[in-house]
This record gives sequence, C-alpha cells and structure tokens, in this order.
Amino acid sequence: MRYYVMTLFPEMIMEGMHTSIIGRAMDRGLLSLEAVNIRDFAEPQRKSRIDDYPYGGGAGMVMQAEPVYRTWESIVGKIGRKARCVYLTPAGRVFDQPLARELALEEDLIFLCGHYEGIDERVVEEIVTDQVSIGDYVLTGGELAAMVVMDAVSRMVPGVLTNELSGLDESFSGSLLEYPQYSRPEKKKKKEVPQILLSGHHQNVDRWRREQSIRRTLERRPELLEKAELDKKDRKYLQELLANREEM
Ligand code: ADE
Repeated sequence: MRYYVMTLFPEMIMEGMHTSIIGRAMDRGLLSLEAVNIRDFAEPQRKSRIDDYPYGGGAGMVMQAEPVYRTWESIVGKIGRKARCVYLTPAGRVFDQPLARELALEEDLIFLCGHYEGIDERVVEEIVTDQVSIGDYVLTGGELAAMVVMDAVSRMVPGVLTNELSGLDESFSGSLLEYPQYSRPEKKKKKEVPQILLSGHHQNVDRWRREQSIRRTLERRPELLEKAELDKKDRKYLQELLANREEM
C-alpha cells in the first residue's frame, strides 16, 4: 500500500505515522507514505498563500482550488493513474470497518486534508472519489482524520499485523464489541481473573468470550446487534440478558 497525503502540515503526518506497528510496516516495505505540502504548489505571485475569502461572505477562509489541483496532479503523475482520492471532512460518509477493509484492497491511496472553512468545491468535484468523516465532531484539520483512516486501513493490509488472526478477531469484525482481556497477575487488589480463562477448556473460553461480547454490545452499542451475525445459542443468550433486564 502506498499512501500520498496532500496537506499543509506534512511533518505532522510523517511524525505521527512513523511509530509502532505502522512504522515497522513501513520499514519492512509493506507500506509507504509521502506527505506532499500543498503550500509548495501555491501561485507564485501569492507567495505561499493558498487560502482566500469565501464568495458570498461568511467567517473564515477557503483553501483555493488551484494549489490543491496542482498537488494532486503531481501525485497522479508519479503514480501513473488517478488513484482513489479520499477527502477528510465532517460532511463525509462516516468511516467504519467495512470501508477500512475496502480501502485496504487498493494499491495506492491519496488523502486530501482540508483546513480553514473548507476547500473550493470545484477541485473537490474534480479530484475526490470519497468524502470521509471519522465521526460527528469537528477537528481543526483533516490530518488527524487521515491518520486514523490510514491506521485502520494499514492493519488490514496483509503482513502488517504479524499475528494475522488479530486483524479479524476484534471489535466490529462480526459487528460485536470485543470481549475483555486479562493477563498476569491472576489476582490484583482482590480483583481476580475470571476462573474460566484459567480452566484450559478452549470451548468454554470461546463461549464465555462470545457471551461477554454480546453483553458489552448490548450495554454499550445496542444498535450494532441489528447487524450482528448471531447463531441460535447467541440469540438465546441475548434473550436471557433482555429478560433479566426487564426483571430489574
Ligand atoms: N475534518 C474536520 N473534522 C473532521 C472529521 N470529523 N472527520 C474527517 N475530517 C475532518
């Protein structure tokens, strides 16, 4: 996977991404990352300014179309084709695990990070294939959102997680939240590790974990249960939880 990020803060992207699992995957050549400074493509007569007042008035400034377009052209020229281009904006489709999985199938991904009050709509229409939001809140710019998306996509790229199964087994893979995890010591300030996890009985452990996932999902994100793939045993357990709730 090759990432190209159009941004006003390339150092933020490079420093933010060169750590931990993603940093190691880059060192191993599984991922590459280039942050391209939109300011380098400013109109020469405007020095390095790339924003201007919005037509129609209103607060704030708008990123101009031309510098963004030229930045994109330089990247597309390098790749040799118009790769998928993701614009991070609170007005986009909300990012989720299915979209992470879908984007992980691409060989190249271009990200466009906005600032100020937004980007001139004409260049958005021209170059952007996907408008993506990371949630219903407003950030000061798209960089953190682009890093969130790259992180989630990268862990779905084959080989990035050395423990391959962990990419599949976690929250949202089956639309359920993840079960709680425990490690040593067995007892900490009177709080003990659930006995079943020490039993060595894998089937019972799996069942317990599954039920914990269902319980957590019901408590924290009940709307996810509508999409979850539940078998007969799962549904029975869920019914019991709901019945107990009504009793309370
Ligand atoms: N830019 C500003 N806020 C954002 C958000 N919530 N998601 C994606 N990009 C953004």
